[in-house]
Parts: sequence; C-alpha cells; structure tokens
Amino acid sequence: MTQSPIRLTVNGRIHDIAAARETPLLYVLRNDLALNGPKYGCGLGECGTCTVLIDGAAARACVVPISGCAGRDIVTLEGLGTREEPDAVQQAFIDEQAAQCGYCLNGMIMTTKALLAINPRPTEQEVIAALRYNLCRCGTHVEILRAVMRASGQLAEAGD
Ligand code: FES
Ligand code: FES
Repeated sequence: MTQSPIRLTVNGRIHDIAAARETPLLYVLRNDLALNGPKYGCGLGECGTCTVLIDGAAARACVVPISGCAGRDIVTLEGLGTREEPDAVQQAFIDEQAAQCGYCLNGMIMTTKALLAINPRPTEQEVIAALRYNLCRCGTHVEILRAVMRASGQLAEAGD
C-alpha cells in the first residue's frame, strides 16, 4: 500500500515528502530539500552536527523520523540568515573566527539559537553545559564560547 506523503514545514516553506515514515529527517533535508547546513556526523544522535530546531528546540535530525515532524516548525541553518545578512549568532561566530574545519558549526550555532531563546544572557558555565554534547574534534571550544557570549551581547558590554 502506498503511504501518503508527509507534510513538513521547513524554514517557513511547506514540502510534501514521499518517503518512508521512519526516514531520518536529516536525510530528507539534505537529499530531498538540498539543505546541507545540517551535517551527517555519527548518525547516532551523539555528535550534534545535524542539529536543527523543531518548534524552537534543538533536535538531532539524524535520529528524528519524519513521521514525528509533521505539523511542526522546522528551522535549519539556512533559515537563520543569508551570506549577505547573517543572523546575529552566525555573525558572532564569524567575528570570533570560531571555526577550524567548520564541520561542527551547524550544531554549535543551532544549539546556541535554542539556548539564547530561553536564556538570552547565559553564563559561561551555562553555555558550556548547553553545548557539552556538541562535539568539536578540532578543539575550537574557546572561540566557540566567545562567539556565544558575543551573540548574547555580553562581550560588547565587557568592552571585549
Ligand atoms: S549526525 Fe546527528 S548527532 Fe551526530
Ligand atoms: S571546527 Fe572542526 S569539528 Fe569543530
């Protein structure tokens, strides 16, 4: 029996996806919708590089089946800003040059978005806690922490 398409709302656009219900959201985003901001890392929900926002919360798209996404608001990195007009968090990562290979950055930025939405002025310890399950194999943690503090406006206030 043919299954009916699953309707996804991604970055404000509606897509009817004809795929098995258990298909990971990440596969659909990258392979069907050409949204390559979210990256494939572990595929097991452990590294965070595939992170997207679902109803504003950070979610690991590699382990979320599309059947659980119908009717929910999905935002990917592409939904934040553009090359010409980056989102404030993206701009903060640029300003701090918070990348080496860059592979983890999608997850770092999307998790930061979710954090700042509920805690606009986190302490450094709160940032570290929020990002503790986003892995960066390059060891860019110090710059990433500064970028998050910059995005929250707290570096500017400190005159840094
Ligand atoms: S690829 Fe999804 S958590 Fe690693
Ligand atoms: S910058 Fe390379 S994994 Fe983080």
